[in-house]
Amino acid sequence: MSVTRVQHFAVSLDGFATGEGQTREAPFGHAGERLHEWMFTTRWGRTAQGLPGGTGGADDAFLRLFTPGVGAEIMGAGKFGHPGWQDDPEWRGPWGPNPPFHTPVFVLTHHTRPPLAMEGGTTYHFLDATPAEALATARGAAGGLDVRIGGGPTVVRDFVRAGLVDHLHVVVVPIVLGRGVRLWDGLEGLEHDYDVESVATPSGVTHVTFARRDAEV
Ligand SMILES: NC(=O)c1ccc[n+]([C@@H]2O[C@H](COP(=O)([O-])OP(=O)(O)OC[C@H]3O[C@@H](n4cnc5c(N)ncnc54)[C@H](OP(=O)(O)O)[C@@H]3O)[C@@H](O)[C@H]2O)c1
Repeated sequence: MSVTRVQHFAVSLDGFATGEGQTREAPFGHAGERLHEWMFTTRWGRTAQGLPGGTGGADDAFLRLFTPGVGAEIMGAGKFGHPGWQDDPEWRGPWGPNPPFHTPVFVLTHHTRPPLAMEGGTTYHFLDATPAEALATARGAAGGLDVRIGGGPTVVRDFVRAGLVDHLHVVVVPIVLGRGVRLWDGLEGLEHDYDVESVATPSGVTHVTFARRDAEV
């Protein structure tokens, strides 16, 4: 059974998943790299940067779940690019010619354009649809594998609120951002529908996993 998952989605202690003032040069606005520094010290994160070494503990183990079993990704226009990318016909996303997805990726936007085939098996499809419609489309393209909801916070929140997320893995980073886009708004009482576990790691982050009680797997 294919599940819908959110993976290693980083939020500050005050619940912000990105900062204020996003630009092409600063995709997380005033948050800079602070929500993701914990990744860069792991073996997975260092390998992704072409570097040796790194930690091999629980942070690394969570990150290694990124690829296996995922057949498609859904993301928001705010993750696909800086504010205004929709006006740039040449924009091909921030991940370069060979993006790390290697699956169909459905970019939710009210400014649709033709699909973009990239190297390595990633094809971007631009979709104006409700979360339920987008998930049905992504499932159809995922070949029986899981669908990842990749962010940003607006899209993750919408899918969780619609009851479409089976596994939600949030990484709470011990920083206070104070402003930006929050994940939790409108999700009051979310924990009632999920089995929730927390694991703190030496890097200082806490992994919180929400597994939906009525999910079939
Ligand atoms: N903390 C993390 O782990 C993490 C992970 C991923 C991304 N991020 C960060 O999150 C930020 C982006 O998040 P965000 O909340 O600002 O934006 P987002 O969730 O990526 O995208 C929201 C946008 O997607 C489009 N959209 C959403 N639902 C739609 C629907 N049903 N139909 C059509 N279009 C729809 C709209 O854009 P249009 O105007 O194009 O219609 C909307 O403004 C970036 O800074 C990114 O770097 C953080």
